[in-house]
Amino acid sequence: MSNVIILGAQWGDEGKGKIVDLFCDRFDIVVRYQGGHNAGHTVQIGAQKFILKLIPSGILHPGKRAVIGNGLVIDPAALLSEMEALEALGVNVAAQLSLSNRAHVLFPYHRAMEHMLQAIGTTSRGIGPCYEDKAGRRGIRVADLLDRERFGEQFEAAAKEKETLARAFGIPEHVDVPRVRAEYEALAERIRPMVCDTARLLNDAIRAGKSVMFEGAQGTMLDLDHGTYPFVTSSSASAGGACTGTGVPPTRISAVVGVAKAYTTRVGGGPFPTEALDATGDQIRERGHEFGSVTGRPRRCGWVDVPLLRYSAMLNGMDSLVITKLDVLDELEKIPVCVAYRAGRREVADVPATSRGLETMEPVYECLPGWQTSTAGISRYEDLPQNARNYLAYLENRTGIEIGCISTGPERSQTIVRPGSRFEQLFCR
Ligand code: IMP
Repeated sequence: MSNVIILGAQWGDEGKGKIVDLFCDRFDIVVRYQGGHNAGHTVQIGAQKFILKLIPSGILHPGKRAVIGNGLVIDPAALLSEMEALEALGVNVAAQLSLSNRAHVLFPYHRAMEHMLQAIGTTSRGIGPCYEDKAGRRGIRVADLLDRERFGEQFEAAAKEKETLARAFGIPEHVDVPRVRAEYEALAERIRPMVCDTARLLNDAIRAGKSVMFEGAQGTMLDLDHGTYPFVTSSSASAGGACTGTGVPPTRISAVVGVAKAYTTRVGGGPFPTEALDATGDQIRERGHEFGSVTGRPRRCGWVDVPLLRYSAMLNGMDSLVITKLDVLDELEKIPVCVAYRAGRREVADVPATSRGLETMEPVYECLPGWQTSTAGISRYEDLPQNARNYLAYLENRTGIEIGCISTGPERSQTIVRPGSRFEQLFCR
């Protein structure tokens, strides 16, 4: 059985939720490996729209095990409210969900700290400060939260430290320690039944012949190490993170599938060479409903950036690429694609190490003719207009990665799987 990673190839919001939801029936377990409730994975089933933040999209399939791995940071109140919302819709979350005892716990002081620190246009969920505590070896993990004897002491020491820090910043931040402590102790009892050693659970399942889908959050260009630092999130959103964030070794991973839009978007600050700061950019935003599913912020919109996709494919060892939201481009007469960057007189094909470097580069575009007819809902490759097929073939040639699947709308049925592709082999046989 295969264990496949599905991740974002750009700056997040590529439509991974739909793809995971659509194909997770082929897998026994779906696991999230990084991030927190900064993620928002939208899944549309008929008239119902679900936005999942912490819980893997597999939860919407009865009987499927959904796992939150050790690589995540968990706000227990956010987790419980997501659980309640899903339960109200008839999903048996408690029976299907497992939570790692090694995931880190997010506290209100993490959110407060985020406001004190340098702004890069984050989601303001306290994600970065919680990962900072993890890397600084002063974080509190789920197993600590469940330890009735020690949690109080640990939390009080951490809260005192944060208060001292806030004072140093000249902010009279006050943590109501007894109140927050009691709140978290109560939350701990509610999550306790789901908590276990998920690395053991996953490895035992794999050994028993079960298959696992790894659901990435955010995107490769937001990866803490490989993304457009410092305009990144604080976790490992690329394929490597799937191993560290779950405890499943690299030797057990069978394939990596990247998801990219037929254009590009980014939320928050940071370089975006192909951003379309004109009426066409606005048109894409409106047609693509490009507003953050967690924060509601308008997303910045622009063109496909081939050097960035190639870099992302290399970092992830990508076997196949899914292109989503093809129909959003339906009305365009011409579609520019960035094929290289220009720095002075030089043409550069790689993503530079610094954000400043990327900001100063000029994209070199090639323009492809649009198809100016509706592709919405098309589910067979041969039914796509010729220019849409040309566009996809061009991206495939330029990136060197097969495009195995194309999404032409939010619904499950609005999807094309390319016959004979590696993607079809992985998900449909
Ligand atoms: P943080 O993850 O809240 O620390 O935000 C860091 C950067 O990642 C900001 O630019 C956010 O807009 C971006 N970001 C975080 N989560 C997502 C996501 O799920 N989709 C797209 N961008 C995200």
